[in-house]
Amino acid sequence: MSKNRKDEHIELALKQEVKKNAFDKIRLEALDLPDLSMDQIELNTEFLGYKVPYPIYINAMTGGSANGHRINEFLSRLANHFNLPMVTGSQSIIFKDEASKPSFEIIRKNHQGIVVSNLNANASVSQALEAINLISANALSIHLNVIQELVMPEGDRDFSDWTENIKKIKDVIDVPLIVKEVGMGLSLSTISKLKRLGIKHIDVAGSGGTSFLKIEEARSGKSYDYLNEFNLDTAEILMKLEKDDDVSIYASGGVRNPLDVIKALILGAKAVGLSRCFLDLTFLEFDEAIKRVEEFVNDLKKIMIIIGAKSIKDLPKVKYELID
Ligand code: FNR
Repeated sequence: MSKNRKDEHIELALKQEVKKNAFDKIRLEALDLPDLSMDQIELNTEFLGYKVPYPIYINAMTGGSANGHRINEFLSRLANHFNLPMVTGSQSIIFKDEASKPSFEIIRKNHQGIVVSNLNANASVSQALEAINLISANALSIHLNVIQELVMPEGDRDFSDWTENIKKIKDVIDVPLIVKEVGMGLSLSTISKLKRLGIKHIDVAGSGGTSFLKIEEARSGKSYDYLNEFNLDTAEILMKLEKDDDVSIYASGGVRNPLDVIKALILGAKAVGLSRCFLDLTFLEFDEAIKRVEEFVNDLKKIMIIIGAKSIKDLPKVKYELID
């Protein structure tokens, strides 16, 4: 296994400062008579049709290098402890490098819960099946990362088959399919097109958190500032989306804390994905990481009390105002 692009992505992602984003524009109203106790709060929800105890999941990051193996080993143990769904980093490396496989297999070895495979839309049907089989995945996540590919010197340049690939994969696999971006956000037109293709699970994966433009700027020394105009902020996408009972929307990108999770759920997400927050935990002792996730979950309950929501399905009814 080589020290590869994935390791550079991790190093550079960790250097990014967590800044302000559109979740800060949302102001929730506190209820001084919530008529609820902490024991009554229910955090369970559904993720890709599976029942899960918490409305958060570990979103796609890594695999394929020694460091990727370490991170996946750590996160899958954490995921198993809390029964959190975990999405792997892109598995495309397994088609080129046999030695990369254990860094993904470790996830299923450690985690009895929901494990989700990940590839980009270049993947063929047989590759999708191989990625799913390798880790007995409960679902497949396909990421659409056109801009990221275009700014990477070694990235893809041919996107002509992507829609067709998604259609074919969707028809063949027997596990749920979720489509996401990688932190620049799916546009409303893309979301409509995915719905027309029959995709039932969509993670808007917007901006406001880890930025691959910044990561690639640091790798190449070039400025991609002008491409920032294509960034779609996670909270803004959620606010613009029309409700559609046929499709489950998930949110990720720039979710920094329990309050952001609650805001994303209020804006209609069924569950919320975090990458950077979980990456940071992998540098702690395992017991300390467990404590942090326990605190995170407890803070979700505290916020639910403050805003008077007993369960996740109550959240879309919570009132909020937008501030500048
Ligand atoms: C990612 N992300 C990502 N997404 C994906 O679908 N496949 C992948 O292989 C990767 N790789 C990856 C590596 C690293 C180091 C990071 C931090 C992120 C994108 C990720 O799933 C998510 O969409 C963005 O990171 C935005 O979320 P956060 O970091 O703001 O919570």
